[in-house]
Amino acid sequence: MTRVVSLLEKVRLKHEPQIPEILRRGIRGLGIEEEAVQQQAEEIRTHFPNTCGRPVVRFVAGTGPQQTTPVRVGVVLSGGPAPGGHNVITGLFDAIKKYHAESRLFGFRGGPKGIFTASHVELTAEIIAPYRNTGGFDIIGSGRDKIDTREQLAACADTCRALDLNGLVVIGGDDSNTNAAVVAEYFVASGLGVSVVGVPKTIDGDMKGAQVETSFGFDTATKVYAELIGNVCRDAKSAGKYWHFIKLMGRSASHVTLECALQTHVNVALIGEEVQEQGQTLRSVVAQIADVVLRRAKAGKNFGVVLVPEGLIEFIPEIRVLIKELNKLLHGDRDFFEKIPTFTDKKEFVNKKLSKDSSYVFNYLPQRIQIQLLLDRDSHGNVQVSRIDTEQLLLEQIKEQMAEWEQSGQSDCEFQGQHGFLGYEGRCAVPSDFDADYTYALGQTAAALVAFGRTGIMSSVRNLTAPRSEWRAGGVPLVGMMQIEERQGKPTPVIAKALVQTEGAPFRRFAACRKEWEMGDDYVYPGPIQYFGPPELYGALTMTLLLEQGQA
Ligand code: FBP
Repeated sequence: MTRVVSLLEKVRLKHEPQIPEILRRGIRGLGIEEEAVQQQAEEIRTHFPNTCGRPVVRFVAGTGPQQTTPVRVGVVLSGGPAPGGHNVITGLFDAIKKYHAESRLFGFRGGPKGIFTASHVELTAEIIAPYRNTGGFDIIGSGRDKIDTREQLAACADTCRALDLNGLVVIGGDDSNTNAAVVAEYFVASGLGVSVVGVPKTIDGDMKGAQVETSFGFDTATKVYAELIGNVCRDAKSAGKYWHFIKLMGRSASHVTLECALQTHVNVALIGEEVQEQGQTLRSVVAQIADVVLRRAKAGKNFGVVLVPEGLIEFIPEIRVLIKELNKLLHGDRDFFEKIPTFTDKKEFVNKKLSKDSSYVFNYLPQRIQIQLLLDRDSHGNVQVSRIDTEQLLLEQIKEQMAEWEQSGQSDCEFQGQHGFLGYEGRCAVPSDFDADYTYALGQTAAALVAFGRTGIMSSVRNLTAPRSEWRAGGVPLVGMMQIEERQGKPTPVIAKALVQTEGAPFRRFAACRKEWEMGDDYVYPGPIQYFGPPELYGALTMTLLLEQGQA
């Protein structure tokens, strides 16, 4: 049966991504220039002796890589989907085919495990054609497997050898690019000449750095959420009877929440990084929101909107310590723990092992949250924060506080709450014009890095607030983005997440406006993503990118 394609998808299939002038030449027209070599901490050097100390590179006009035979590349989509993943693949495909008509692209199925289990499919022109400019990762699927055991690494090498690959392109966030760095190091150490190239993906917006201005998917996903938040704001103002608590994705960093607050002017937006910096407790976060609810009620406004980043829970210092202790004890005793039959017994087991303070915090939380905190970690040791109902927890606590104030005669505020979670709604949206073009350029850049034999490197396209033709392309060493963090109870080198900087321009803009937004109801309604029409509409960039690049 032929698949029914939406009208928008049909029209977007024809979109030809605009790419930087330098990439128009194709791989054969490129040269490579080395820029600064990043300094590396000794601890990282010992883990990556072969791939540390490599330079940042950028493409300039040139006569192309020496090799003139076809290139064979494997590609994997890793972690949560983000709009534009398919275009990285089409950009990669078009670039290697333009380089040599007999070049071939193989897609690993179901994420990183597709590499070590050798589950792959050749991506031909016919296969990729219907995926151009579409959302989703369904062309080959994705997964969150970690690649770190000797057996897995050796199996990855075997797969690459069997397919006779020149390059392996890993499209992913911080954990996936950590995988890429580990694989690159292993390949170099074992004399396997396969270039490993990362591509910065994540709707969370935390896979960025000096040479990576934004991760792809952030632009589209935040536009989707901002549209919906704007609609909720208008509903809140129209009906005048509800406080809406909306949790937003962003496993660690609060960039998504910050961007949506900047776009919609909600009454309260909690920024996890600030909560941590100020050493706030759960009670003080509740008190902060309750104060706004009360003041608005006194002004006759029994409505409002609160944004809660899903990573908030881990930023509250007392809960962070609790999670750290839980991680340690569950990592050591997970098998035993899983066999404990009842939740009461599990709780008793946990309470005996927690420190006094953490045990107090744990017992203060509602049972629903306790259960969620004890859920299994992902393969990288992360708490699955999308499964913790932080927004509901806050709403319940505010309700209790209001009831208390009512009893003591401090207020007779009519508080009614609604709660929701926005995350999956945005991860597979049709990529915005920006994401469609950015990802295509990232794919083309990755192809060129493979052709030049660069490894342990991330595809980087910069100068993103300029017209597409002026974007710059090159690569940044993965090891240079790493730091040591405690994972599953032990110090581990990982690609650092870029958190919201409270001294950064986006946060400062938010901090300068939020007092006014608390009491106001002049919300902004961004409306749906535009793909056509006036360029200022379909070409709109995120406030985060504009502010960070000094353009707003
Ligand atoms: P990535 O870091 O892999 O891009 O994931 C982004 C994300 O959408 C987070 O915001 C969220 O916490 C997580 O994925 C949820 O994924 P899952 O459904 O696999 O738990």
